[in-house]
Amino acid sequence: MTTLNLPSYLDQTDQVKKRFDALKKRDVILDVKKISKKFDSPQGEVEAIKEISFQTHKREFVCVIGPSGCGKSTLIRMLAGLETPSGGEVLLDGKPVSGPGPDRGMVFQGYTLFPWLTVKRNVMFGLEMSGRSKKNAESEARDWIDLVGLSKFENAYPHQLSGGMKQRVAIARALANRPRILLMDEPFGALDAQTRTKMQSNLLDIWKNIDITILFITHDLDEAIFLADRILVLKAHPGEVNEVIEVPVPHPRSPEQMITPEFLATKKRLEELIHEPEEDVPMNLTLMTDKSDSVD
Ligand SMILES: Nc1ncnc2c1ncn2[C@@H]1O[C@H](COP(=O)(O)OP(=O)(O)OP(=O)(O)O)[C@@H](O)[C@H]1O
Ligand SMILES: [Mg+2]
Repeated sequence: MTTLNLPSYLDQTDQVKKRFDALKKRDVILDVKKISKKFDSPQGEVEAIKEISFQTHKREFVCVIGPSGCGKSTLIRMLAGLETPSGGEVLLDGKPVSGPGPDRGMVFQGYTLFPWLTVKRNVMFGLEMSGRSKKNAESEARDWIDLVGLSKFENAYPHQLSGGMKQRVAIARALANRPRILLMDEPFGALDAQTRTKMQSNLLDIWKNIDITILFITHDLDEAIFLADRILVLKAHPGEVNEVIEVPVPHPRSPEQMITPEFLATKKRLEELIHEPEEDVPMNLTLMTDKSDSVD
């Protein structure tokens, strides 16, 4: 067996270092301060998240990765204001989050479009709810639909679209409300591998074109490295920050980079962190995850 001699994932070229220096000087959009979440269950109290802290800078792309059940969805739901933390606080532009708001756009794994509305109407919905005139909402919706490359389908209904197209509409709908941050919980998890790769490139194009900060949850290591500036790695039971990785892969990103030494070095580090032996993990679970590429 040949083993690759990889650099350290901590090695950064001058270009990458400069990019991170500039990124860290940008305003903090999201400031998560020691948030915890405990749930009551028939088996007693479950500590899902324990004192997670991190910051996301303007126009940064942060991915969150961690073993199944480590609290990724709970975390993003607290950031969205759909769940109340048991401790700590979330600040958006310095203001405490106390419920859902148009300043945060959400895209989930499941398709959440209104099935009885056309693509255009789905995107117009939030705009009209926030008081725009129909004409104004329609013209804005068209711009967002154009941005995600679905202009030809503006009058189609969700059931006439593929999974990838539905998620593009969901992205357009979330962006139309001009959120400060886009929160995405495994949005491409249900897509086939080929569509998923295309969607990742699409999302990076959109991110480059508009002024948006993205927090993206995934259990796919390649997806996290391909998309992220930084990756927040969580550990399980309870979910805590294990490590924050600055991805050393230069921008602009392209799928060919997936076999570069810096990409593979980062993947190796993520594998070490995700598959860290845990005393309380049952034997069969360890075996199942042993050779897997993904977290669950
Ligand atoms: N409403 C709830 N009531 C009780 N326990 C909950 C609730 N929601 C989540 N949990 C528990 O909190 C923990 C974290 O769940 P969560 O769904 O956030 O994990 P996850 O990392 O998103 O998992 P996956 O990778 O499978 O999506 C789990 O142990 C789960 O059972
Ligand atoms: Mg989840």
